[in-house]
Amino acid sequence: MLCNKRGARTYTAALITGASSGIGEAFARALPPETDLLLTGRNSDALGTLATELMRDGRRIEVVQADLATDDGCATVIEAADGFGIDLLINNAGLGRFGPHLANPAEAEAMTVRVNAEATTRLCRGLFPGMLARARADHRRAGAVNLASTVAFAPVPQFAVYAASKAYVVSYTEALQAELAREPLDLLLACPGSVATSFGARAGYRGGRLPGAITPETVAQKALAALGRQKVVYTDCLSEKGLGPVTGLRGLGALGLATGLGVFQSLQAMRR
Ligand SMILES: NC(=O)c1ccc[n+]([C@@H]2O[C@H](COP(=O)([O-])OP(=O)(O)OC[C@H]3O[C@@H](n4cnc5c(N)ncnc54)[C@H](OP(=O)(O)O)[C@@H]3O)[C@@H](O)[C@H]2O)c1
Repeated sequence: MLCNKRGARTYTAALITGASSGIGEAFARALPPETDLLLTGRNSDALGTLATELMRDGRRIEVVQADLATDDGCATVIEAADGFGIDLLINNAGLGRFGPHLANPAEAEAMTVRVNAEATTRLCRGLFPGMLARARADHRRAGAVNLASTVAFAPVPQFAVYAASKAYVVSYTEALQAELAREPLDLLLACPGSVATSFGARAGYRGGRLPGAITPETVAQKALAALGRQKVVYTDCLSEKGLGPVTGLRGLGALGLATGLGVFQSLQAMRR
């Protein structure tokens, strides 16, 4: 396991989804120049500009244009990331549609589920086996960050599908953390509150910048500092105090269930 001067983990090659703007772009900028980057999104111009800016001698930076709402897009990204030999996966791409569910375009709501929940699942399922094999072979740890949100912890009228898709990311990530507890993988659940990006405008929210919105750079820095040290990261004190105990208990519950199921399966096997 390698650490930089601040004690944060260092990685050799990272895949960042949704790197063309906002929090994903901030992750790309926050990673040290020693980390090679595979940047993906649909906006290839923005990805190309970012790649050119972050390029240094000897650093590999590649761009993959892919729509993660599609089967082909997910498969393309998985194949590229395996070939790139990633040891860090940042599942950041996401979207939502603000407004009453029955008035929102059905395709936008379906796309929210496909990108936020399904693509996150596909990328973890598709990439973790290779990441774990490389980590075991090199005697080091791999890392992954799944971006959820504080809205995942309550039903949110006018943002029903988005909040539900992030609730999926929370539950899925917590279960994987328990299943993979003994593996050389640090899996972080990131739950930002309001962040000043283009997300709100793209979601059709017309209320302007929400009060208390933090910068995407703060989210990326806090998440990278927490990776390998915490299971969950919040980006504001209120969420940390209010939701921290909730995710703490849920994490313990998941570990208890994983242990109980393991014992039960061993007993079943002995009876056979
Ligand atoms: N902003 C907030 O207040 C906030 C709070 C909590 C959590 N989050 C989460 O943080 C993550 C990043 O959001 P952000 O605030 O940085 O918003 P953003 O600036 O709108 O960035 C979203 C990114 O997701 C990518 N994306 C969207 N649909 C895609 C698709 N079909 N295929 C591939 N990539 C797609 C976009 O890339 P292209 O357009 O190039 O495809 C873009 O790079 C999301 O998961 C979001 O839910 C945001």
